[in-house]
Amino acid sequence: MRILTVLLCVATVLASRPAGAAPPCDARKVAAAARACGELLRGEGRFARDGDAMRRARRVALASDRLAREWTAAEAAAVDATCAAFSASGVDTADRLAAAVADAGASLPGSARCRGAVLGTLAPLCRRVVRSELPLLGDAPGAHDDRQLVLARVRTSLGRALPRTECGGGGPGAADVEPVLLRVAAGALGDATVRSLRALVADAGPEIGVAIEPNEVASDPVYAAALDREATSITAENVMKWGPIHPAPGTWVFGPADEVVARAESQGQRVRGHTLVWGALQLPAYVENASDADTLRAMMAEHIATVAGRYAGRIAQWDVVNEPLPGSLDPPTADGLDDNVFRRLIGPGYVAEALHLARAADPAAKLYVNENGIEVPGPRQDRFFALVQDLLAAGAPLDGVGFQAHLGLIPIGQYPDEATIAASLRRFADLGLSVELTELDVALVFRVGDLPSRLAFQGGYYRSVIAACATVPDCAGVTTWGLSDRHTWLRSFFGFTDWPLPFDDDWRRKPAYFGMRAALLEAALRGD
Ligand code: G3I
Repeated sequence: MRILTVLLCVATVLASRPAGAAPPCDARKVAAAARACGELLRGEGRFARDGDAMRRARRVALASDRLAREWTAAEAAAVDATCAAFSASGVDTADRLAAAVADAGASLPGSARCRGAVLGTLAPLCRRVVRSELPLLGDAPGAHDDRQLVLARVRTSLGRALPRTECGGGGPGAADVEPVLLRVAAGALGDATVRSLRALVADAGPEIGVAIEPNEVASDPVYAAALDREATSITAENVMKWGPIHPAPGTWVFGPADEVVARAESQGQRVRGHTLVWGALQLPAYVENASDADTLRAMMAEHIATVAGRYAGRIAQWDVVNEPLPGSLDPPTADGLDDNVFRRLIGPGYVAEALHLARAADPAAKLYVNENGIEVPGPRQDRFFALVQDLLAAGAPLDGVGFQAHLGLIPIGQYPDEATIAASLRRFADLGLSVELTELDVALVFRVGDLPSRLAFQGGYYRSVIAACATVPDCAGVTTWGLSDRHTWLRSFFGFTDWPLPFDDDWRRKPAYFGMRAALLEAALRGD
C-alpha cells in the first residue's frame, strides 16, 4: 500500500510538472525521504517503548539501504546533471535522519511509552510535511500556499492525534511537538530536494552570500556555476580593501573590484562592499605612516569619496569600518579600541567620521561596522556594544552591524550554540540596527576527532548558525567567507589544513551545505 501511495504521489507531481521542467529525480528523492521519515519515526517509537536497540538498529539499516538504492536509481534516471550531481547519498541522509529522529525522541518529555506513542503519531505527519514539498519542486503556481495549507492541516491533526492514555493525560502538547516534527521533516527535505540555497530563499529568508576573489571565480567554471546557483549576495574578499584598490597616492586599481560588482549585477546578486577603513591589514605604508591628523583625515576623505562614490547606488551594504576593536589575540588597549593609525592620529571619532563620509559618498548604501568574536557574550561583545551605542548617540549614520562569525577560530575552539548567537544578534538588532553574519566559516583545526566525525559536527553546527539568523527578523543575511574549502583563507593566511566551508575541495556538497539547507527549509516550513 505504501509503495502505491508514494508512486501515486510521484505521478501526481509529474503530471503537474510543466513540460521541460526539472527531472523527476528530486521528486523521487523527496518521496523516498518522506517514507524514510515515517519509517524511522515509527521505529524510534517502538524502540522508545520496548527498548529493543537491535530492532532499532535493524530498522535504521533497512531505511539507509532502501534510501540509498532509491536515490541512486533516481539520480541514474535523471535527465540532466542537476540531481545526479547531488552527492548527498541516501546512506548519509538516512544516518542524519536517524540521528535527528533519535534526538527528537530524546528531546520529548514523558515516559518511554508516552514518547513512543508521540513518535508514532509523528510518523505519518512527517511524511505529509515532507511530501508537501513535491508541488514546490515544479514551481507549480501557488505551491507555497499549498505547503502552508498542508502545514495547517498537519497542525490540526497533530493537536487531535497526540496520545493521551500513554502520556497519562499530560505529556507534550502540539506546541512542544510541532518544532520537533518540523526539525525532522526539514532535515529530510534538506537532503532530498536539489533546489539550491538561492532557490530556497527566493521567497523568504536571509540573503545567502559568498566572499570571492574574482580571479578564482573567473578561472574555475565549476566555481562560477556554483556561485550563481547558490548565492544571492557577493562580497569582495580583498579587492576593495585600501591596499589593493588604492596602493599609492593617486594610484587606483579598480579593475578587480569593477569585475566583482559587474558580475554580481549580471547575476542579480546583492553586493556587500568590504572594506573602506581597516587599520590592521592591507593598509598601504603611505597611510600607515601618515604624519598628522589633518593629513590622514584628507586621505580618508579622498579614499572614501572615490571608492564609495565610484560604486554609488550599486552597493547594498558597506563595511565602512572593519574591526575597530583590537584583534582577539592582540593585547588589550586602554580604551578597548584597536591601536591603529586612525585611532592614534584622529582619535576614537574616526569611526563616526568614516561613516559620515560614506553616507555622503553613497546615500543609498546601508552602512555597517564589522567585527569578529562578538557572537558570544562577554567583555569583547560589551565593548563593541558600547562603541555602537556611542555611535548612535552621536548621530553617526550607522545602519547595521556585521558579525564575522569565524567560528571555531575566534574564540579558538569555541562553537557558540544557536540560542547564544541568536541572543547576540538580537542584542544589537534591539538598537534598531540590521545584523548580518558577514564572514561565516566553521574551523575544525582545533577540534578533535577523525575528519568524518568533525564534518558531521560541522554540518549540524552550520544548521544551528543559519537557524540563529533565520529566527532573528533583523538578520538580513549570511555570507560565507568563500564557498569551497580549496579557497579558504585559513589555508592561505595561516597555513592551516582546514575544511571550514560548505563545499569540499572537489566541489562536493558537505554536511555543512545540507545543514544550511535544512535550516532554510525549517524556516520556510515554519513560515518565517
Ligand atoms: O595579492 C597579493 C599577491 O600579489 C602577493 O603575491 C601575495 C603574497 O604576499 O599576497 C597577496 O595578498 C594577500 C591577500 O590576502 C590576497 O590573497 C595578502 O598578503 C594577505 O594578507 C591577504 O589576506 C586576507 C586578509 O583578510 C588580510 O586582508 C585574506 O585573504 C582574507 O580572507 C582576510 O579576510 C579578513 C576580512 O577582510 C576581515 N575579517 C577577517 C578576515 C580574515 O582575516
